[in-house]
Amino acid sequence: MRGQNLKIDPERLWDDLMQTAQFGATPKGGICRLTLSETDKQVRDWFKARMTSLGCAVTVDDMGTMFARRPGTRADVPPIAMGSHLDTQPTGGKFDGALGVLAALEALTTLHRAGYETFAPIEVVNWTNEEGSRFSPPMIASGVFAGAFTRDWAQQRRDRGGESFGAALDKIGYRGSESCGAHKLSAFFELHIEQGPFLEAEGKDIGVVTGVQAMRWYEVTVTGTDSHAGTTPMNRRHDALLGAARLVEAVNAHARKFAEAVGTVGRMEVAPGSPNVIPGEVFFTVDLRDPDAGVLDRMEQDFSAAAKRIGDELGLAIDFKPISAEPAVRFDKDCIEAVRAGVEASGLTSRDIISRAGHDAAYVARVAPAAMIFVPCKDGISHNEAEFSSKEQCAAGAQVLLQAVLDYDRRLAERYGK
Ligand code: GLV
Ligand code: MN
Ligand code: MN
Repeated sequence: MRGQNLKIDPERLWDDLMQTAQFGATPKGGICRLTLSETDKQVRDWFKARMTSLGCAVTVDDMGTMFARRPGTRADVPPIAMGSHLDTQPTGGKFDGALGVLAALEALTTLHRAGYETFAPIEVVNWTNEEGSRFSPPMIASGVFAGAFTRDWAQQRRDRGGESFGAALDKIGYRGSESCGAHKLSAFFELHIEQGPFLEAEGKDIGVVTGVQAMRWYEVTVTGTDSHAGTTPMNRRHDALLGAARLVEAVNAHARKFAEAVGTVGRMEVAPGSPNVIPGEVFFTVDLRDPDAGVLDRMEQDFSAAAKRIGDELGLAIDFKPISAEPAVRFDKDCIEAVRAGVEASGLTSRDIISRAGHDAAYVARVAPAAMIFVPCKDGISHNEAEFSSKEQCAAGAQVLLQAVLDYDRRLAERYGK
């Protein structure tokens, strides 16, 4: 089959992973590269320079998402895109997101060096703010791209320091001119580390990702009364942190009632934050996930009921705001078939898998055929500086990505009756 002999270069991919890991490198070997920060600008500039050196045209949309295009033989066919994100968690690893972008860059480099002509244009995409750590919700740019959020709402989201997404985009010079969502795609493929234990445990090279579980985010503000820690008797307190603590317990207990559900409070801010003042206000986030959105409905109802009860018991006002709700996603049949063909062409082992983490591909799937490829990561650990996939595992994923894109390109050529 045409293109089946093309091989990505494992060393070049590894070098790119290690080189870009310097932008925001942490002493413990991870990366802190929050979206739209100075280090995000540095890695974006690096990415743009590399793509330009390969003769690609780089466009940026008004949510800061970058698209680097290598032409195909048919300029009127929308591109087949591959990519992921270059932002990280505050204590992120070297592979979450970066692997998907840099493997896409490597796949495109392989085509470029071989002088291989595809039917459709091929693009490498770097989505803005996949992580949702600085600006919530996560995957905000692919969400706007897919019509899940409006651009204006997204650009007005503020980080905890009060800076808006729009202002942060302008500060690093990455508010592009293309309207987010206007960029048409024939398909989208995202390679990612699994971030869970199954592939490693079963000794499989590749996860063929058939879908993504449902996920919801909320922001909660608990309001009580600031007062003196020494002079306020226990029965006259309105302690916002005590209420928040009981709600954290409730999130954990509600998730445990269901076989596959998970519930997390990952950020909490306590005001005024003084040892001898009873906290008057607490802000915290809630992340709920399950493959079945019906389970999330029940968890949300349980949380609301717990908030009402705890608020009444402690004399607190509890404001519970939904921020995002992503339904469970089934990826496109033809894209999944292309991934299977890629696994076969690469001579690797695989199993089907559902993603427990959120990904840009889940939003993109609303507006273009999409699928994902997973590779194992050590002990299933991610969102941690110790996150690790080997050179060989990364290379296997990049090779399948390349072959999946080429397979889809052949299907597209047939469909257009080339
Ligand atoms: C994305 O990183 C997620 O939280 O799943
Ligand atoms: Mn990711
Ligand atoms: Mn992540």
